Amino acid sequence: MKIPVLLLCSAVTLTWGAWNEDGKGENIWDYLTHTNPAAIEDQSSGDVACDSYHKYERDIEMMRELGIDSYRFSIAWSRILPNGFADYVNEAGVAYYDKIIDEILKYNIEPMVTLYHWDLPQKLQEMGGWLNPLIADWFADYARVIYERFGDRVKSFITFNEGRQICYEGYDSTSKAPRLNMSGIGEYICAKNLALAHAKAYHIYNDEFRPTQGGVCGYTIAAGSTMPLTDSEEDAYAVELHDQLSWGLYTDPIFSKDGGFPKELFELVAKKSAAQGFPRSRLTDFTEEEKAYIRGTSDFFGVNHYSGALTSFSLFSPPSVVPSPGDDIGVGQTAPEEWPQSASFWLKQMPDSVYIVLKNIQRRYGDVPIYITENGWSTHEGIEDEGRVAYYRAALESALDALDEGINLKGYYAWSLMDNFEWMAGYTERFGLYEVNFDDPERTRTPRKSAFIYKQIIKTRMIDHEYEPESYVMTIDEGH
Ligand SMILES: *[C@@H]1O[C@H](CO)[C@@H](O)[C@H](O)[C@H]1NC(C)=O
Repeated sequence: MKIPVLLLCSAVTLTWGAWNEDGKGENIWDYLTHTNPAAIEDQSSGDVACDSYHKYERDIEMMRELGIDSYRFSIAWSRILPNGFADYVNEAGVAYYDKIIDEILKYNIEPMVTLYHWDLPQKLQEMGGWLNPLIADWFADYARVIYERFGDRVKSFITFNEGRQICYEGYDSTSKAPRLNMSGIGEYICAKNLALAHAKAYHIYNDEFRPTQGGVCGYTIAAGSTMPLTDSEEDAYAVELHDQLSWGLYTDPIFSKDGGFPKELFELVAKKSAAQGFPRSRLTDFTEEEKAYIRGTSDFFGVNHYSGALTSFSLFSPPSVVPSPGDDIGVGQTAPEEWPQSASFWLKQMPDSVYIVLKNIQRRYGDVPIYITENGWSTHEGIEDEGRVAYYRAALESALDALDEGINLKGYYAWSLMDNFEWMAGYTERFGLYEVNFDDPERTRTPRKSAFIYKQIIKTRMIDHEYEPESYVMTIDEGH
């Protein structure tokens, strides 16, 4: 079957590299990797990473080799506003992103720009980061600078990449910077502030910039595909609660009909908090005014999708730390042995995974336009990445099934164009269509087998499971 309309694209973070060059300020990942290298699996840092700061011309060549329609990248807040505040704009940082945007547009590759991909300026962290309600204004000020400087050419903005990974992993546990570990408390405070920050940034775009710039502004979460373990009513409810916690907490305030936090989750946390002796719920509600201010503030639904799991109350194993969001809902998950396992412990290939997650989103929010803003598979080093090839083919087949059923899917971004610093996993897990040699000062990029397969899919708009590249020589096709 021919792949219709769907944009086929690629994405990467531009958070890493040149960490203190040309006036860039320190961010929370610079701080974490420099002060606590043992926290990173291979004790590495993103100081240089794939060095896109200097190698962007090669990156653009790779985009042209693949023939992608759009390139999603993030802007590092501390490269534009070194201390986080908008009183001083670092022109060298602006110039870097200007070059990338101008250059990709020459080749008809549309930029999709993410404002925040987990790299808070360290100064703002020291003032509480996403737990300080004032951050909604700080973020909105930053967003305005971005629209002012880039919105004449960038027509697609995403405020946040993966709310739960910012709030739960960063503030409730220790699995992302700033590793605050305020279990059962940090995530909920952060989630509320994030929603208000997003809404402010959206309204600024909508009121001050959209009339002249005419683009869109959206929000991206990470969602796995959840299926009930059995067809019991309890397991269906377990799936609902799991989705409420793992993304509904972030997206219901924006996309649901009535706005506000997911009702069942909200009530559960209030009840648990009371039983635990908290004088008030650990999840503070929005005012009615805030609910109305946040509701409807996204032009599309961005989903980063990787893995999936079977879900049930019967699989719950009580966490060692209470209170915690996991304890609040009491739901557990499992993934069958036979599902292929990637190089990342959290990433397994669930059958029909993309279809399932898109259906779950549609069931929740109706016909909202959806972009798959990330989808990909991790391997270890090596060019022969059969696992990634199989994953992409299956994922795109599954996306076609969803399109067949009328799901409003607009675009698909492979994660990632090239290997990069993978957060706490350092360089031990690779997500790139292109391999990066991190031992080589030139950070040489080499196309993997999957790059040739993805290129063929883009070129033919077909998924041919028999196709094998004739050679591993990559060229730029005419017209790209
Ligand atoms: C996180 O906090 C819990 C207690 O709430 C503690 O048991 C655990 O050791 C902490 N983890 C780290 C890495 O500090």
